[in-house]
Amino acid sequence: MKHYLETAENAARVAGELLRKNFQPQKHSVLRVNSVQAHDLKLEIDVSAQELIAKLLLEEFPGHALYGEEGVVGDQSSEHQWVVDPLDGTVNYFYGIPHFCVSIALRLRNEIMVGVIYDPIRDEMWSGQKGEIPKLNCRPFHVSDRADLSEAVISVGLSKTSEMIDSNFPLLQQMIHHVRKCRVLGSAALDMAYVACGRFDAYIERGISLWDIAAGWLLIENAGGTVDLRPRPDMKDKYSIVATNGVIDLKL
Ligand code: IPD
Ligand code: CA
Repeated sequence: MKHYLETAENAARVAGELLRKNFQPQKHSVLRVNSVQAHDLKLEIDVSAQELIAKLLLEEFPGHALYGEEGVVGDQSSEHQWVVDPLDGTVNYFYGIPHFCVSIALRLRNEIMVGVIYDPIRDEMWSGQKGEIPKLNCRPFHVSDRADLSEAVISVGLSKTSEMIDSNFPLLQQMIHHVRKCRVLGSAALDMAYVACGRFDAYIERGISLWDIAAGWLLIENAGGTVDLRPRPDMKDKYSIVATNGVIDLKL
């Protein structure tokens, strides 16, 4: 499994470097935009980063498949499937907000075996494999031990369509009065990484995709937390997620 982890870390670092080099904190107009919606954007660099990751992973493991935000590659019935978000936090990236990451997980017959999240701005690499204590830049980490809701810092994702915003906003309204702070930072994968290493006590969102949270799922569970992921019956391939340090009661 070490080979899988090392290959995922390398792919995340190489894609992260591409993102960092092209990141424009002051003038974003030269970035090529592929599509625009009311509450979302897709950039050409999302696609370039995924192509780079796919090349690095599938050259090493030609029999594997890739399921990514920018499309699928290979035979999706393969036992080994890489679940990839090449740029999580695309809107932040476009607006010059230095909070985004690369997220890569390996699924074997529906079980996540390896998870890597890389923040190229802060040069932070969270990585873990099944059954082992995960590491942040080579140092082991654990979820927080805060059990008291009034002391908690919680991230609430608002997602990206009007319908999903309507289902997330009441959560934010409800939580904000009970916790120390709610945060809406715009990268689900970094939210998961922050819960895993104890910066956040929980992260909740209704209407998330597997590539947003697959790597973080393994990191949180291996760091002692819990992840409750439920498919949304009303939306294909979308999930509701409650990820916590395992001791806090969110009273949802
Ligand atoms: C989005 C971000 C955001 C979350 C959305 C995601 P993207 O991913 O993670 O924080 O609220 O649900 O779709 O589009 O930046 O890769
Ligand atoms: Ca994403």
